[in-house]
Amino acid sequence: MRKAILVTGGAGYIGSHLVVELARAGYAPIVFDNFANSSAEVVPRLRKLTGQPLRLISGDVRDRGALARAFFDNDIAAVIHCAGLKAVAEGEAKPLAYYDTNVCGAIALVETMAAAGVRTLVFSSSATVYGQPDRDLVAEDAPLRPASVYGRTKRAVEQILEDAAAADTSWRVALLRYFNPAGAHPSAEIGEAPSSVPNNLVPVLCEVAVGVRAHVEVFGDDYPTHDGTGVRDYIHVTDLAEGHVAALMHLSRQSGVTTLNLGMGRGCSVLEVIAAFERACGKPLRRRVVSRRPGDVAICCADPTRAASVLGWRARRDLEAICGDAWRWAARNGAQPADR
Ligand code: WQD
Repeated sequence: MRKAILVTGGAGYIGSHLVVELARAGYAPIVFDNFANSSAEVVPRLRKLTGQPLRLISGDVRDRGALARAFFDNDIAAVIHCAGLKAVAEGEAKPLAYYDTNVCGAIALVETMAAAGVRTLVFSSSATVYGQPDRDLVAEDAPLRPASVYGRTKRAVEQILEDAAAADTSWRVALLRYFNPAGAHPSAEIGEAPSSVPNNLVPVLCEVAVGVRAHVEVFGDDYPTHDGTGVRDYIHVTDLAEGHVAALMHLSRQSGVTTLNLGMGRGCSVLEVIAAFERACGKPLRRRVVSRRPGDVAICCADPTRAASVLGWRARRDLEAICGDAWRWAARNGAQPADR
């Protein structure tokens, strides 16, 4: 019998790739999503990719009734919690919406899980919990100083889970701190489809390459980095999904809280990402250097040592794969000029 794993946000960018990797690893993922920032069109594509009937539950993580029904109707072994709001700038403008969805949603989920007797949880956290890092490679024991509402909601949920696990030692929790997820499934069936105008670098480059955006703005070329542009740790979304599966397997052997960075451990500059995307799409991409974006740091990369030793997992797909897969997805499914 395949173990059923509830994936909240399972139709979203990370969640959909995770569903594919869970199915490949022999689990039966169940998608729980309110489609606030995703489309139900993903579900038939996931059925095709996984070859599984794939259960879909339309629901919001703040809706305790919908959650309770999901646990009552299904023999769920564990939950991977990806549902949430994730646009850093939007969080500054709508802090209460971010706390409500991300923090209240997590509390509703954790309470419902406990009532159902399910205490294995993998949580989508973020490198934003570190804020301005002191070192180029950030390890899990670095100071936690989230500099955005979004980052504070992620840290708040981490703390809630740490406290819940301290009070009840039967919890098995993995807190996975993502660096910069990018790319798409190589089939081009699923990828990132933001419902509003994208702000992250790779989705912006997709828009420039398909012609919906005239140029990419490079946010500052005067950082203390090798070419003056910001350096980040881009991780292929399939590598990230495989990291979740490895974390889930780890929780079958380990109780308590395991906190792990998921990143490559290698940084790429904005100009390097643009160059890699140009190679992927085979055309030059117009760029314009503008001033720094408020809140951005020069360098933020993972020290992925702990994930490698605890999970035996490491990110394997490089920037060429990230850009190649993102471009294939954008060329096939990307925003059309009429959409904007
Ligand atoms: C990357 C680099 C920009 C856009 C955020 C969140 C993080 C995670 C990923 C989670 C930076 C530069 C970008 C553009 C640019 N999200 N840039 N022009 O800010 O590292 O991380 O997204 O859910 O939590 O904080 O990612 O892709 O926005 O920026 O020059 O149009 O690209 O300055 O150096 P960031 P990003």
